[in-house]
Amino acid sequence: SSNFTKQIWVFNNSDAERIYLYANLLQKLHWKANPQHLDNFRRELNAETNVSTDRDLILTQTNVKLDQQMPCYFDTKKSMLKYPHFVATKDFMSTLPKESPLKGKRYEKCAVIGNSGSLKLSTCGSQIDGMDFVFRCNGAPLEGFVTDAGKRTDFLTFNPSILYKRFGGLVNESMIESYITFMKQYDSMVWYPCFGSRQLVEPCIKAISYHDQVDSRLVIGHPSHYVSIWEFWKRRGLRKKPSTGLYLVSLAATLCNEIHLYGFWPFPIQLHEGKVQETAYHYFNSLPFTSHHSSDSEFRLLLQMHMLGTVNLHMGTCT
Ligand code: CTP
Repeated sequence: SSNFTKQIWVFNNSDAERIYLYANLLQKLHWKANPQHLDNFRRELNAETNVSTDRDLILTQTNVKLDQQMPCYFDTKKSMLKYPHFVATKDFMSTLPKESPLKGKRYEKCAVIGNSGSLKLSTCGSQIDGMDFVFRCNGAPLEGFVTDAGKRTDFLTFNPSILYKRFGGLVNESMIESYITFMKQYDSMVWYPCFGSRQLVEPCIKAISYHDQVDSRLVIGHPSHYVSIWEFWKRRGLRKKPSTGLYLVSLAATLCNEIHLYGFWPFPIQLHEGKVQETAYHYFNSLPFTSHHSSDSEFRLLLQMHMLGTVNLHMGTCT
């Protein structure tokens, strides 16, 4: 059971015990940035992937060629036979920027915000807003959550499946209207990984076509960039595809001199003021816990990086 109310108890569940130990470790450890370790991580990423943030994070008129076929990385061989590849037409090319708006940019202190329910009651909002660059995942809502999650957003990922989950696939005017209204929360770069699944490419391009009605800059992720980072982690033993959060941590390493993580807690319970408490998967809803990632391995990886001073994994409340 995850419903503990006492400060000391007997663990009859090894998962709960492990989570308790993680939380205690994070609380007791005094974090100190280690720029050398972050630099090592950055060098390994650069040396072992054939992509660079400057050139390949975003689709541009220089890293895609006219008539190029664009395979989708989540599609199977069978589905690829069924659906023809998307081809980069002249019209499509003309919607792409000449070069990445992030080219040559470097930031001092960055935050990557995961969507965990552990952010609730964290009061970390102002700490997050004080960073020089803030990454967020999957159209994370801001309105109503500013005290805990902050509002500053410089880079937001927007998985095209969200268009179906929240905006009915943009099939009618009212869906389109609610999508545009939702997007007005942000004034940032919004990065759409359109080339994950062939069936979502057109809806994803449609979502970007409303760029003149929103304040954000809407861009498309280059599929090779995600795949290359995925392969990097695969070679290091990650069994499933990296989560958006881990992808952004890897990206942040190439753009930032110090990395702070908030909202990374893929567990159904947490320690709050010394007591164990139930935690929602997301800070903005109460949907059940589901994950198609190796969440546990990813968390242990972030914990290792925290102990090395590569990233600061913030847990609990900000004072
Ligand atoms: N995350 C976490 N703990 C949670 C929820 C999310 O550490 N309880 C991190 C994960 O790295 C996740 C990111 O925050 O990728 C964004 O959360 P979410 O939008 O829930 O991502 P997923 O639904 O897991 O989807 P994906 O990673 O495939 O985009």
